[in-house]
Amino acid sequence: MKRRFLDFLDASSQPWELIPSKSEGEEVIEGQLKQGARVVKVVRGMPRFVPDDNYAGNFSFQWQKFKRTQSEGELREQSRKAFWDKTGFDRERDIAGKLVLDVGCGQGRFADFALEAGAEVVGVDLSFAVESAYSNMKHYSKAHIAQANVFELPFKKECFDTIYSLGVLHHTPDCKAAFEKLIPLLKPGGRIAIWVYGAYGWNYGDIRDTFDFWRSRTVNWDTDRLMRWCRAVLPLYHLQKNPTVWKTIHNSLPGFLFHKIPLVSASENAEQRLLDTFDFYGPKYQSLHTYPEVFGWFKNAGLTDIHVLEFPVCVIGTKPA
Ligand SMILES: C[S@@+](CC[C@H](N)C(=O)[O-])C[C@H]1O[C@@H](n2cnc3c(N)ncnc32)[C@H](O)[C@@H]1O
Repeated sequence: MKRRFLDFLDASSQPWELIPSKSEGEEVIEGQLKQGARVVKVVRGMPRFVPDDNYAGNFSFQWQKFKRTQSEGELREQSRKAFWDKTGFDRERDIAGKLVLDVGCGQGRFADFALEAGAEVVGVDLSFAVESAYSNMKHYSKAHIAQANVFELPFKKECFDTIYSLGVLHHTPDCKAAFEKLIPLLKPGGRIAIWVYGAYGWNYGDIRDTFDFWRSRTVNWDTDRLMRWCRAVLPLYHLQKNPTVWKTIHNSLPGFLFHKIPLVSASENAEQRLLDTFDFYGPKYQSLHTYPEVFGWFKNAGLTDIHVLEFPVCVIGTKPA
């Protein structure tokens, strides 16, 4: 961590003190952050505001195993497009020269684009995904990564010009409450954008029954078993991607049996297929939301200039100045 990180911390009750025990240039690699009696360890370059990864163990595994999958080649370009499409941010207004909070940064694929566009970025994640984010972002002088829980973020009020959280809040025990925790951290005039799973389309109806049937089992498996199962069911992709074959199977099996066949990622990239399938069956929490619901959260939080974006369910709003 960089000494600059202290500027972002809430010191309204007591000041923070950084006590390095190992540094490399500007970077504190090991040490302690102290606020009165509270001690936050700095381990492998990052402050750890949580004792462990709590319910996010599968994310710890996933983002260390697939550390670069979505940050290279064609998938990097898809991530780039997803960042701008799912936030609706304007490069100049929201990112260039701004202090930006990435909530649930994972391996840092989106922080990468904000940094590239000239932001200073603080990325937080509950899981050990932060190990990958730190290593992926370490060439940026304006990147700060910390292991922290969205429900107990250590930052001062009205600290950030821009906040985004993409594909994260629906993986917490309370999506709306997690969203509400972010509003006080946003500066007046700043914008916040979130993407949460939509209660529409691919994730709905009979398909959802299939996911729920399997997820009620898979979320209780250990990571190794889940990964073995994902690898075992992944060849179903070849049947599911072919509408004629899949329809024939559908028509020839009784419904209760057909809807027990696990659905796997339709990604054309084999590594992403494995990642996405694991990402779907692994998270302990996974809630679905509608546009009116999420729009209501923004409105109740006092945000204005609220826009729903095309990709369900992405919403952006502004904190009144
Ligand atoms: C599907 S991943 C998305 C990661 C990243 N935003 C991306 O799209 O590549 C969800 C992330 O949310 C994180 N997460 C879940 N609950 C969290 C919490 N309470 N506080 C902070 N991060 C959390 C997980 O550890 C995981 O890395």
